[in-house]
Amino acid sequence: MEKITSLAKRRGFIFPDSEIYGGLANSWDFGPLGAELKRNIKNRWWKKFVHERPDIVGLDAAVIMASEVWRRSGHLKNFTDPLIECKKCHERFRADNISPIAIKKSACPLCGGALTTARQFNLMFKTHSGPVEDTSTEVYLRPETAQAMFVNFEQVVSASRRKLPFGIAQTGKAFRNEITPGNFIFRTREFEQMEIEYFVRPEEWKKYFDHWLEEMKKWAADLGVRANKIKYREIPKKERAHYSERTVDIEYSWPFGQKELYGLAYRGDYDLKNHGQIYHDLETDQKLTPHVVEPSWGVERSMLVAMLEAYDEEQAPTAETDETDKRVVLRFPHWLAPYKIAVLPLLRKPDLIKTAQQIYDQLRLDYICEYDETQSIGRRYRRQDEIGTPFCVTVDFDSLEDKKVTVRDRDTMKQERVAIKKLPALLTNKLKSVNV
Ligand code: GAP
Repeated sequence: MEKITSLAKRRGFIFPDSEIYGGLANSWDFGPLGAELKRNIKNRWWKKFVHERPDIVGLDAAVIMASEVWRRSGHLKNFTDPLIECKKCHERFRADNISPIAIKKSACPLCGGALTTARQFNLMFKTHSGPVEDTSTEVYLRPETAQAMFVNFEQVVSASRRKLPFGIAQTGKAFRNEITPGNFIFRTREFEQMEIEYFVRPEEWKKYFDHWLEEMKKWAADLGVRANKIKYREIPKKERAHYSERTVDIEYSWPFGQKELYGLAYRGDYDLKNHGQIYHDLETDQKLTPHVVEPSWGVERSMLVAMLEAYDEEQAPTAETDETDKRVVLRFPHWLAPYKIAVLPLLRKPDLIKTAQQIYDQLRLDYICEYDETQSIGRRYRRQDEIGTPFCVTVDFDSLEDKKVTVRDRDTMKQERVAIKKLPALLTNKLKSVNV
C-alpha cells in the first residue's frame, strides 16, 4: 500500500485533498493520471453495460434529492452505523468494528478509557437548500446513486418504452459520513459509484442474480484482477442493508485484509413499492411491481484494486548500459492505461524534436499520448513504465535518414523498428483492445 500511495502522489494519480492547508483527512484529489484512469473505468463500464446491451438505459440524476426520497427509501431511519466513543481520548469507533471483549469491558482499544454505549449514527450528510436554515429546507447528499433510478422508474419506462427485464444505469458521486474512513481511497466520505438497477418479473430474480454475479466476475477480470484474489461472501441477514433480501459481496484480499470490492443485492420490490412505482404490461394488461437485482461498483475501489494488481517490480537492464536496476511497472490492461503512447526524441536536438512532435501531433488525435524530452532516454522509459504506458515511440538520428522509429513494449521491453508511415496502423493494431 505504501508503494502505491507514494507512486500515486509522485506521478500525479492521487493527491491528498487541500494539502497546502494541511489537508482534509481521508479526502483525495485525482491528478492528471488519476483523472484519466477514473474516466477510463467509467467509460468502459458505460460502454459495456449501457451501449453494448440492448436492455439497459442510462440516467444522470441530481445529487441532492427531495428529503421525502430518503424517508420513503428507509435511509433516514435505517442508514446508520452503531457509534461508540471513548470518554477519555474521544476517539470514535464503529461498534461492529471493535472486539466484543473491548465492548464488554467498556475499555477503549487505544487508551483503555471508558466507552459510551452504542448509538445509531445516520451516515447521510445533511445540508439546507436555499438561504433559510430550518427543518423545511433540510436536504441530504445522496448516499447511493440507486434511489434516483427507482423514483424515475415510471418516467424511464414510458419515455424509452422499456419492457421487463431491463435495467437503468448510473454513475456518479455518493456521500457517506463514515465513522471510520481510511485505507487511502478504500473508504472515503465522498466517492463515486457505478450502479445498475435491473428490473425483473418477481419469479425471475434468481436467474438474473446469477447473471449479474457472472458479469461482475468478468468485469473484475477485465480490470486485471486475478481470480484467486477474489472471494464471494454470502452476507448474513443481520449484516445486510435494510432493503436487501440477499447480498453477495465480491471481496478482495487487500493489503489490509479481505474486504468488499463490489456488492450484488436482491432488493425485492422494497424500493419501487415504497415509491409507489408500478409497471404496466401493455401486452397482458397486467400491473405489477417489478423486483430488483442491483450490481454496484465503486469507482475508487476499482482504481485501487487495478493499481495493486498492476504493480510490479523487477531487475531490468537499463537503456544505456549493460547493467540492471530496479524497474517499477504498472502492467495495466491497455484499455486502462492513462497514456497509451509516449513519444520521445532520443536527445534534445531540434531535428529530433521536430520529427517527434509531428508524430505526437498525429497520434494524439486517436490516442491519449504524452510527449517528453526531459532527462535521459533510460529515465524516461522507467517513468513511462511506472505510469503504465503500453508503448514508447523513440525518434533517433537514424530516423531522420531511414524515416523509421523505435517502438518499445512496456511489458517485454522489446523494441522494433517501424516506418513512420506505418506507425498509426501498427499502434492501432497493438492497441485494438483499447476501444473504451
Ligand atoms: N446501492 C447499493 C449500495 O450503495 P454499498 O455496498 O453500500 O451498496 C456499493 O456500496 C459500492 O460502493 C461498494 O461495493 C464499494 O465499492 C463502494 N463504496 C461504498 N462505500 C464506500 C466508501 N465509503 N468509500 C469508497 N467506496 C465505497
